[in-house]
Amino acid sequence: MLKLIEPTMEYDQQIQAYRREFLQPGVSMDGGGQLIHCETTKQWLDLVEQYSHQETVPADKVPASLYILIREEDNKMVGIIQIRHYLNDYLRKYGGHIGYSVAPSERRKGNASRMLAMALEKCRQMGLDKVLITCREDNEGSRRTILKNGGVYESTEYEAQQGRYLQRYWIDLAEKKADIEDGHNIEYQSTDERNRDMNSIYHRTSIRHFQDRPVEREKIEEILRAAMQAPSAKNQQPWEFYVVTDKKMIEELSTVSPYASPAQKAPVVIVPVYRKDCLTPAYAQIDMSIAVENMWLATDALGLGGVWLGIAPVEERMQAVERILNIPESLRAFALFPLGYPAEERQQKDRYDESRIHYII
Ligand SMILES: Cc1cc2nc3c(=O)[nH]c(=O)nc-3n(C[C@H](O)[C@H](O)[C@H](O)COP(=O)(O)O)c2cc1C
Repeated sequence: MLKLIEPTMEYDQQIQAYRREFLQPGVSMDGGGQLIHCETTKQWLDLVEQYSHQETVPADKVPASLYILIREEDNKMVGIIQIRHYLNDYLRKYGGHIGYSVAPSERRKGNASRMLAMALEKCRQMGLDKVLITCREDNEGSRRTILKNGGVYESTEYEAQQGRYLQRYWIDLAEKKADIEDGHNIEYQSTDERNRDMNSIYHRTSIRHFQDRPVEREKIEEILRAAMQAPSAKNQQPWEFYVVTDKKMIEELSTVSPYASPAQKAPVVIVPVYRKDCLTPAYAQIDMSIAVENMWLATDALGLGGVWLGIAPVEERMQAVERILNIPESLRAFALFPLGYPAEERQQKDRYDESRIHYII
């Protein structure tokens, strides 16, 4: 069991053991309320106290409540989390409401997700309705922690001073409250995986303008993993994928249909293709559609954007793509999926239409 408590001198040893883990070369403590800079626990606790009140916090900072995460079985301190009571300009753009750290030896065990879930409950008790959390764009673990807790991606900001891109996510605490009141879990495991997907279902839009920035290989892989997770008729999995970053070839692909121009400025175009000799060819294009939707949702969940450019079933477009890619005869081109970091912001609309539903009772 884990408990989130205010730090006191009673935990002196644990706090110092925690600090020592961060003194190793190559380890940094992003959210630790400056513990790393304090020689003694007393110094740190004084600082935590100073930062917790409006009257004593430095003028350029906002008051914050700080908690430590203790694992009850062995009384070990596994994390620190700080909740800023409101946002100033810097926090609204880069820092967010919450900063945290987890002991290097305790990572990849779900501790960060649980600590964040507990901290969100404290935020709710403090009267916050929405919480902003940010993470470095290359911090996959942190991003997953935020998504598991219902984070909805809003934007990526470049923090010039630190030379880093930060992704910004909002967590709606009113929704979380409804979840808790419905008796749903507060530890957020599988339900949160579901939330993440549901968020992308409602958040995804067609993105046709992209920043001039490459997309990391890991993200491409995650998108393709999502594609290949799709169901298919007789589980035939007819798909293969070409990942094109060659600018000249992308330019050519953007001319295969009158509507394919959004591909032109994309840093990557994924071309899903299918095998002609699959188990039930009549269903191949249907299977491919599901795979492309999965790709699209994963793209959104990763803070990227993309758009499906229709190729199949229009025969001449399929042939044009096949010619450009020079793919074997055994494969058929299905669609183009340009993707990248969005250079446009689009709000998805609610398409629910009750008149389309016919209940037969
Ligand atoms: C099968 C299919 C083919 C599409 N083809 C194109 C296309 O060729 N060019 C384009 O700009 N958008 C294309 N789109 C994107 C649709 O225009 C878009 O999904 C639709 O307008 C709804 O907007 P949203 O994606 O932002 O929700 C296609 C979407 C689908 C599902």
